[in-house]
Amino acid sequence: TTDAAKFIAIDGPAGSGKSSVSKEIARRQGYGYLDTGAAYRALAWYVLERGADTADEQAVLAAASDFPLQQGLDADDRRVAVGDVDVTDAIRDPRVSAAVSGVARVPAVRVQVNEVFRRLVAEAPYPAVVVEGRDITTVVAPDAPVRILLTAAPEVRAARRAAELGGENAAAVAEALHKRDRSDSAVVDFLTAAPGVDVVDSTDLDYQQTVDAVLAVIGERLGER
Ligand code: DC
Repeated sequence: TTDAAKFIAIDGPAGSGKSSVSKEIARRQGYGYLDTGAAYRALAWYVLERGADTADEQAVLAAASDFPLQQGLDADDRRVAVGDVDVTDAIRDPRVSAAVSGVARVPAVRVQVNEVFRRLVAEAPYPAVVVEGRDITTVVAPDAPVRILLTAAPEVRAARRAAELGGENAAAVAEALHKRDRSDSAVVDFLTAAPGVDVVDSTDLDYQQTVDAVLAVIGERLGER
């Protein structure tokens, strides 16, 4: 489809470096940037705000059908709003983090949210949009010209996350990350690459080397067309 042509699809687990790498590439290349995890978080916030039970699939679906997401595609502007409420900070709240897997688990909700992503990319004033998530390479844009799975060994991801958070309590950080891997992979398999998806394993790469490896894949894939 014409929609998929603008997608630079990047999937991967928490702590793979996906967000920082995706943002940097968008900036450098003059592409847009879409954090789909932030959209799922905003939807979870919206369900909670409506006082609905996140385990009630019908209530979650009703919220998704009427979800006034405001999310820009500028890599330097991470603001997210629902209607006119700025939820940029609220969506990182542990209360939202705990609710988001349950919301993302409902298949009909994913269908609705995917349509929002496709529309945002189609209407984007950019030649391409780096779209990061868990199922972008497989479900949202399986026809994208660039599809990358960014991975790293679990212990390396946990160590990076702990360092980001100031190095405190590494064991608790690792446990939380593994728990989230498990609940997230019950929804979509983001740990194995689908056929045709390029894997970049950042286990033994530093940040800059990871950016370069992803840029090399993008260059190869776009050059190929
Ligand atoms: O990347 P993140 O941690 O901000 O993602 C938040 C949640 O949304 C996470 O639990 C997985 C889910 N998610 C998803 O199901 N599909 C996506 N494309 C992106 C995120």
